[in-house]
Amino acid sequence: MFPCDFAWGAATAAYQIEGGWQADGKGPSIWDTFCHEGGRVCEEQTGDVSCNSYELWEKDLACIRRLGLTHYRLSLSWARLLPDGTTEHVSQKGVQYYNKVIEDLLSCDVSPMVTLYHFDLPQSLQNRGGWKAAAMATIFDSYARFCFQTFGDRVKLWITINEPYVCAKLGHEDGIHAPGLKEPGTAAYLVGHNMLRAHAMAWHSYDSLYRPTQGGVVSLAINSDWLEPLHPDCADDIAASRRCFAFTLGWFAWPLFVTGDYPETMRAAIDTQSRKLGYNGEPRLPTFSKHEPPVFGTADFFALNYYTSRKVKAGLECRQGMSMKSDRDAEEVLDPEWSICGVAWLAVVPCGLRKLLKYIKDTFHDPVVYITENGFSQVGPLVMEDAQRAEFYKDTIQEVEKAIGEDGVNVRGYFAWSLLDNFEWADGFSSRFGLFHVDFSDVGRKRTIYRSGLEYAKVISKYKAMYSKP
Ligand code: GAL
Repeated sequence: MFPCDFAWGAATAAYQIEGGWQADGKGPSIWDTFCHEGGRVCEEQTGDVSCNSYELWEKDLACIRRLGLTHYRLSLSWARLLPDGTTEHVSQKGVQYYNKVIEDLLSCDVSPMVTLYHFDLPQSLQNRGGWKAAAMATIFDSYARFCFQTFGDRVKLWITINEPYVCAKLGHEDGIHAPGLKEPGTAAYLVGHNMLRAHAMAWHSYDSLYRPTQGGVVSLAINSDWLEPLHPDCADDIAASRRCFAFTLGWFAWPLFVTGDYPETMRAAIDTQSRKLGYNGEPRLPTFSKHEPPVFGTADFFALNYYTSRKVKAGLECRQGMSMKSDRDAEEVLDPEWSICGVAWLAVVPCGLRKLLKYIKDTFHDPVVYITENGFSQVGPLVMEDAQRAEFYKDTIQEVEKAIGEDGVNVRGYFAWSLLDNFEWADGFSSRFGLFHVDFSDVGRKRTIYRSGLEYAKVISKYKAMYSKP
């Protein structure tokens, strides 16, 4: 049974939906640059216009109301608010845009959950070293303070950074996300570290300067698959799946919720590999300074993005060269029983979410949890009667209900990814995650609800009705 104040939400991110990439003085972000360079994104697509939510916000609001959401998760475009990334120059047009969005939501009784950073660093900050630069933590903190000061009288749920794992690994190790760097085995650890420092500084700023009057909560959104040993009785597979957890979920959740430092398994694996490679430079996994605000305890809730599951096996990978993959030394495989939805990485495993929620409860001291993203993509011929996705949402929500009712996990909200079909990063518009279809060939970017959207709306109204009964 869901609690009566459960957050029923959907999520989006600025670069993926807004368009208006140069509108009203917005500065460029690393995703603008990355897409415009060419050769990076499916069919050279860009987020220049996307769903055009910058001009068509009212249409999004109509979609939110159609679903009956109680909450909406959006992200702020840093470069729309601060075109060069610093508080020296504030764009009042940017401020007006988000003020309108927030006020419209509240006037429809929808609570905003606001992400400060969802992959789109202002390009001018990338030019100063981006997330690899230690200085980025204080620059982010100034941006965060600006946002708390400007919007915090109305926004009570904050996410500082979305998926530091993805920013670090895909953007700086694999080079398939902006800024497109390929520096395996080094840059991602540095980026993850600076993101944690940035998050912690922003949390401390909120805690001391804004929470006393604004009374909200702040966290960092962590993505994780559910991982389990391929052979549950094989000690090597068990160890490999622990290592995999340490290099994904643990990388960020351990410092925040357990020790204030990285998982020992992760550091040990990296150090062993460094020795093997005869690497004598600075430790690749940095250490937290005692002179900076502590990272431990800087998440007021657990913000989880869950999409899929993997089985993990050990021993087959050769640990050669410097890379996160050889540090981790474990191989992830799919269970042939799992169906794949659209994109190859997305095996449909709703029960993995329940297991992961239980794991989070047991490992991270029973935190309040919001599932800040979960979804299902469509690729190929368009299906408006998307029964498979509708089924997926129904099954997943049942698993969440069991996690609450049977496992006692303190889940307070669920946000479907995504409200709208949108610009799905390197996959461009080929992968559709929306509860609403968007016609990208139409100037007005017509939004049309999918069957899955109708079904999600029914679920929400069913629970709302239960609580309104006398
Ligand atoms: C997440 C990301 C979202 C969305 C989703 C689906 O990693 O936060 O922006 O793209 O994946 O792939």
